[in-house]
Amino acid sequence: MFTPSRTNTSVALALMLSAFFVFPDRGRAQKIDFRNQVLPILKSRCFECHGAPTKTSAGRKKRVKGGLRLDGKGWILLGGDGGKVLSPQDAKRSSLYTRTVLDREDPDIMPAKGKPLSSKETGLLRQWIEQGADFGAWKGDTGAEIPKASSGKNSTKNDSRELIQLLDKLGAKLPFPEQKALIGARDSMGRIVPAIPGSPLLRVDFISKENKIQDVNVEKLASVKGNITQLGLGRTRITDESLKVIGKMSRLTRLDLNNTEISDAGVAHLSPLTELRYLNLYGTSVTNQGLSALSSLSNLRSLYLFETQVTDEGTKQLQTKLPGLKIHLKPDLSSLPTGDGQGRRRRRR
Ligand code: HEC
Repeated sequence: MFTPSRTNTSVALALMLSAFFVFPDRGRAQKIDFRNQVLPILKSRCFECHGAPTKTSAGRKKRVKGGLRLDGKGWILLGGDGGKVLSPQDAKRSSLYTRTVLDREDPDIMPAKGKPLSSKETGLLRQWIEQGADFGAWKGDTGAEIPKASSGKNSTKNDSRELIQLLDKLGAKLPFPEQKALIGARDSMGRIVPAIPGSPLLRVDFISKENKIQDVNVEKLASVKGNITQLGLGRTRITDESLKVIGKMSRLTRLDLNNTEISDAGVAHLSPLTELRYLNLYGTSVTNQGLSALSSLSNLRSLYLFETQVTDEGTKQLQTKLPGLKIHLKPDLSSLPTGDGQGRRRRRR
């Protein structure tokens, strides 16, 4: 059975053993080369379970084991379900290493099947981490599939091409987030992935953890605020407080706030987000007054307002200021406000 103290003891023991017998300290160790010495271990013993998600026979994506991918630098830095797995210079606090040196009977040992790594292999992993976990030029997989580019319909194709062009432009001179900032953001519990492969822009969502997510979680994203371009907070427990942080995410193109506790006061913080293309306020208490804060968002293309307090009158006003905007006040797209709006009561209750 798993108990923390037993695991700690076996980790400590294994650490001592590897320190004494495998790498007796003979002065300065040679620098480990990630690509040639560490990557082959991960590839042959870890990728099978911690690589790109494969499809089931039904075509559904299989989840990556432990929510952890090890086939890209970004993925490794992001860690898995249990948080980060790598603390550069500190192998003892890097589960990427400690999991490999557990007792071979320990249920937590990695690889989860087959023979344990050899002491030479675990030694390489440890040394590489102790030396600062330098990936060299290796990036590996940079993540994020492109949304539906291959799914037939032309409009989808054009949409995604347009999106990619936009993200290329927004990300052009942007530095990648610092390792430390990324690790800090990981504490938000969000799933953080590159918005498109190789881009420093990030997509963040909280899928399947929505009811645990509050303003404190969003605050943790402040360390990468300039890199976030897509943020999904639908059905979370955030309030107007979070919108203060979100209002500083200057490269945000897509924001989903559906069914949250936000109000007009929060929406007011969004007015600096001029790159915003898509905004979902469905199921919030936003009113016509809140909409007025959006009139500065000249790039906004889609605005979702089902089940809000917004009326035809409010959308008409916004529409005159943002003629290129498509406002979805009701799920039925064929009854978008046409200008008369008479005799149609929006509010049910
Ligand atoms: C046969 C499948 C399999 C292989 C191969 C495998 N793992 Fe895992 N790994 C798992 C499963 C399942 C979990 C989640 C359950 C758990 O935490 O024990 C996991 C979890 C982990 C975690 C914890 C992630 C988190 O955030 O909680 C780490 C670290 C890890 N693996 C490292 C490795 C390393 C390093 C290798 C290669 C040396 C490896 N694994 C190979 C199946 C595998």
